[in-house]
Amino acid sequence: MSDKQLVSMERQDGIGVIIVDNPPVNALSPGVPDGIVACVREGNADPTIKAMVLMGAGRSFIAGADIRQFGKERPRAKLGERSYDILDTSEKPIVAAIHGFALGGGLETAMSCNYRIAVPSAKVGQPEVLIGIIPGGGGTQRLPRLIGPKAALDIIVTGRHVPADEAKKLGIIDELLDAKADLRTAAVAFAKKIADRRPLPRISEADEKLKEAHDDPGMFDAMRKSIARKARGQKAPWSCIDAVEAATKLPFAEGMKREAEIFSTLENSPEARALRYAFFAEREAGRIPDLPKDVPIREIKSAAVVGAGTMGGGIAMSFADFGIPVRIIEATPEAMQRGMQKIRDNYAVSVKRGSLKQDEMEKRLARIHPADGYEAIGDADVVIEAVFEEMPPKKEVFAKLDTVMKPGALMLSNTSALNIDEMAAMTQRPEDVAGSHFFSPANVMKLLEVVRGAKTSAGTMASVMALGRKIGKISVGCGNCDGFLANRSRGPFGTEMNIMLEEGALPEQVDKGMVDFGYPMGPFAVADLAGLDIGLASRRRRAAENPNYRKMPIPDRIAELGRYGQKTGAGYYRYEKGDRTPYPDPVVTEIIRSTAKELGVEQHEFTEEEILTRLLFASVNEACKIIEEGIAYRASDVDVMWLYGFGFPRHRGGLMYWADGIGVKVVYDQIARWHQRFGERWKPANLLRHLAETGTPFREAKPGKPR
Ligand code: 3HC
Ligand code: NAI
Repeated sequence: MSDKQLVSMERQDGIGVIIVDNPPVNALSPGVPDGIVACVREGNADPTIKAMVLMGAGRSFIAGADIRQFGKERPRAKLGERSYDILDTSEKPIVAAIHGFALGGGLETAMSCNYRIAVPSAKVGQPEVLIGIIPGGGGTQRLPRLIGPKAALDIIVTGRHVPADEAKKLGIIDELLDAKADLRTAAVAFAKKIADRRPLPRISEADEKLKEAHDDPGMFDAMRKSIARKARGQKAPWSCIDAVEAATKLPFAEGMKREAEIFSTLENSPEARALRYAFFAEREAGRIPDLPKDVPIREIKSAAVVGAGTMGGGIAMSFADFGIPVRIIEATPEAMQRGMQKIRDNYAVSVKRGSLKQDEMEKRLARIHPADGYEAIGDADVVIEAVFEEMPPKKEVFAKLDTVMKPGALMLSNTSALNIDEMAAMTQRPEDVAGSHFFSPANVMKLLEVVRGAKTSAGTMASVMALGRKIGKISVGCGNCDGFLANRSRGPFGTEMNIMLEEGALPEQVDKGMVDFGYPMGPFAVADLAGLDIGLASRRRRAAENPNYRKMPIPDRIAELGRYGQKTGAGYYRYEKGDRTPYPDPVVTEIIRSTAKELGVEQHEFTEEEILTRLLFASVNEACKIIEEGIAYRASDVDVMWLYGFGFPRHRGGLMYWADGIGVKVVYDQIARWHQRFGERWKPANLLRHLAETGTPFREAKPGKPR
């Protein structure tokens, strides 16, 4: 495509309206910056043009640099000659007219203009940190000059989207339009109004706001301290602070050079590559390969939930949070009352923390209605079953739902492992049944695992994926098997962490290793949070079903003492009243040591590397089996599930991406050695062997049996 098609200028009432038209989000792909430069030059040279407007066609202003170009060789203009510089040095004023998103290079483009106006629904931000880099188009130098270094630090270091009204208050936007105003008309009127004003306001020349840093030079170290825990093991957040600090100490041109230097050290860092991968993996996960593109998506205007327990309550909140009214049915009035109270309590905590306004809480609560029996939910567009994790009650629920739900209603189960097909078989419409597996807490965790039963229709699958997105989730599809994709791939990790205790590791050592790797919490601390009774019950059930089941005496003994984790004040760790800090517990050490002795297991010291590889390779191997069985559509879906369901550190890309970094052959060889040493549970997946033999990275693994 030629530059002219990507960026063009139209003349309207003496104003040059420059339009960027690079769908879907007007990224600054090759040709776009040059197109902007050409139009600005044309506007300056044309005596009939008094001022210019820069805006985006379609749904957005400019969503930033083209992320697909990063890491590639590409022609790049020199500092001083980039589109930002040409906008900044224009002799005639330029107004950025923002709708949709002005992110990254998009906001930097807008800040290189003399004025910014926006519609109320617009959002601006510098999200570069989320892909492992710093703003590289002057954002670290202009934003502190525009709104002060403190507010700039917050925006640049968090990468958050700033809504237009806040951006107006901060001073990023000069004028906020009325919701009904036509952006182009308003922008042309604005441009006419300011056309003759001189001198032109240029952010690069405004140093006033930087004084804030001279009055409070400690703000940078305070920021470093505040991110220390969350940003450990990463580079970009720290570099963002360095670059903003440079803005307060160096003249603009020098600061720009500093920004460019830092940017170039980060563009190809392992962290940036992993985060770019995660960005695209997340978008890819939304696509299920064999669904026809034109399959109709069912509209969801009302929802129902069966069971108001831990998950049912959270699921109801997820609907209410996104404006969808929801009715809940329960087994008993007492359980309903308990469930509703828990929902109220959860919202109240958010209000107390300041993350939710009281009136918003009331609005959300007003969308959640206890319902009296199945007839009362029959006209809902979707129903989600969230009763106990046992097949008989679930089957009963589906049989009843079949008698009351209107034709075309989505009938979903929140089961974390049970067979969707058995539930579907209780209905006359198995094509409308699928799994919708939320993660706990359901209103907080972003992952929605959408499970496709043997008879689930394409329309149901596509509609559940879309429903997930509508309520703010990352929907990832997969097939039906025990534990589905997420829990099944995580299973061997959970087994291995307990077996390592038998071999001489302690919970605190394992947790430290995983936290050092980047997990927010170690797996034993997480288990204590989730509750150890669930694991105990599931191990008992599995042992009863399978005589070869590998027993786990250590967690059994811990849980059999009534140590169910945080809720009982003790689990793998001990807890003090009102304190969630896990303290290593000699009682647990004693259980571990004595059990190991009884079992006659040889003890050894674990290195952090061994802890990490034992846990994660076990899951990589299982994930290969899942891909091979065609349960996962692609390896990157495993990664997205691990990022959003299990807190896998995002700057490491995801489980399979991380394993690719180690190398498929190295992973295979190690697993083969452990197979020799530990036996069947480490048997390498066929797919893994195939990948190792053919030198194919995990990310290129195709679902189905290797050929
Ligand atoms: N570069 C390349 N492709 C992009 C892109 C970008 N900056 N932003 C979005 N896309 C693509 C997506 O991959 C997706 O492609 P697909 O349809 O083939 O999957 C398509 O555009 C639509 O994106 P979403 O599905 O994400 O659309 P949403 O409407 O849900 O979200 C958005 C829109 C909020 C703009 C979101 O896409 C987003 O966050 N984009 C990234 C924004 C960003 O990080 N900008 C900074 C880039 S770095 C930079 O600017 C450096 C500068 O400082 C020099
Ligand atoms: P829970 O025990 O907290 O809640 C279950 C609720 O269902 C109870 O309130 C019970 O009274 C109600 N109930 C039972 N039979 C019913 C019936 N016939 N009709 C109406 N209500 C009935 O259980 P939880 O943890 O909420 O789990 C629910 C489902 O979600 C299970 O399938 C579970 O595997 C799954 N899940 C649980 C997760 C968790 O972390 N707790 C995570 C993801 C899925």
